[in-house]
Amino acid sequence: MNEIRVFSPATVSNVACGFDVLGFPLESVGDEMVVRKTTKKGLVITKIEGFELPFEISKNVASVSAQALIDCINPDCGFEIEIYKKIKPGSGIGSSGASATSSVYAINELLGRPFNKLELTNFAMKGEFIASNSEHADNIAPAIFGGFNLVKSLHPLQVLQLPTPKDLYVVIIHPQIEIKTSESRGILPKTVSLSDATKQLSELGGLVHALHTSDYELMKNSLNDHLIEKHRSKLIPHFDELQSKSIAAGAIGCSISGSGPSVFALTRGKDMAINVESIFKSVYSKSNINFATYVSKISSNGVVTI
Ligand code: HSE
Repeated sequence: MNEIRVFSPATVSNVACGFDVLGFPLESVGDEMVVRKTTKKGLVITKIEGFELPFEISKNVASVSAQALIDCINPDCGFEIEIYKKIKPGSGIGSSGASATSSVYAINELLGRPFNKLELTNFAMKGEFIASNSEHADNIAPAIFGGFNLVKSLHPLQVLQLPTPKDLYVVIIHPQIEIKTSESRGILPKTVSLSDATKQLSELGGLVHALHTSDYELMKNSLNDHLIEKHRSKLIPHFDELQSKSIAAGAIGCSISGSGPSVFALTRGKDMAINVESIFKSVYSKSNINFATYVSKISSNGVVTI
């Protein structure tokens, strides 16, 4: 095989109660990438469609992660990358994570799979680092493994696959304002109170148990963020209204997707998801901010060959 086309999903990270450690992928939204082997060694980005991103190998998330893989194995060939971006950078639904995972997955497939998924996650984290100036794998792990993932540790990297209850849907609203991950990390306090930390531990433990037992009531009680949301929600117009109205209508939970500005709600079943989507739309229709919405099942697949 000399050429491959791959799809890498958008992802929701943090998921209210698991800042920097929890995430899941969407089924219907994501980026595509074509990677081709070349006889000349090295890496070149030949096309970027969708959004403006750097062609320089040291500045593009996809090539930085691909380079980390190449440096590790030194293959006897090079690679050309075509990027078809569908996820807007800075949206909070794992745009950089999708780029970082597509390239390492594609090159690994072209080389006959010398690396396992955990190793690919490690390479992709190098790309994610240049987008956010911090190491975290809560978008990358779900984009590689599929389903709910808990990043148990970064050094050494340990990723746990959690069950995904089959009726679970996600609704996303993406207000078209830009919040850079580095900025929305910058506004976070460096320390948290012991009582907030304790509450957060119990929420995350509750959600993990709820996922294992498909206990939707426990899920609803656990999707709370005592650490991050109060700081970042100030950057997202109408956040409180999105959250209160979607939960009043029956959503299981609603919080900021990744570092924002996207906001997600989890629902049981598609009908409720469509209902929540219309609530999200009606909240934002009153403002002059453009927005996009998505309804998706939570995907049990990560990046795939198409
Ligand atoms: N966990 C990260 C954050 C995700 O919230 O900053 C953004 O990439």
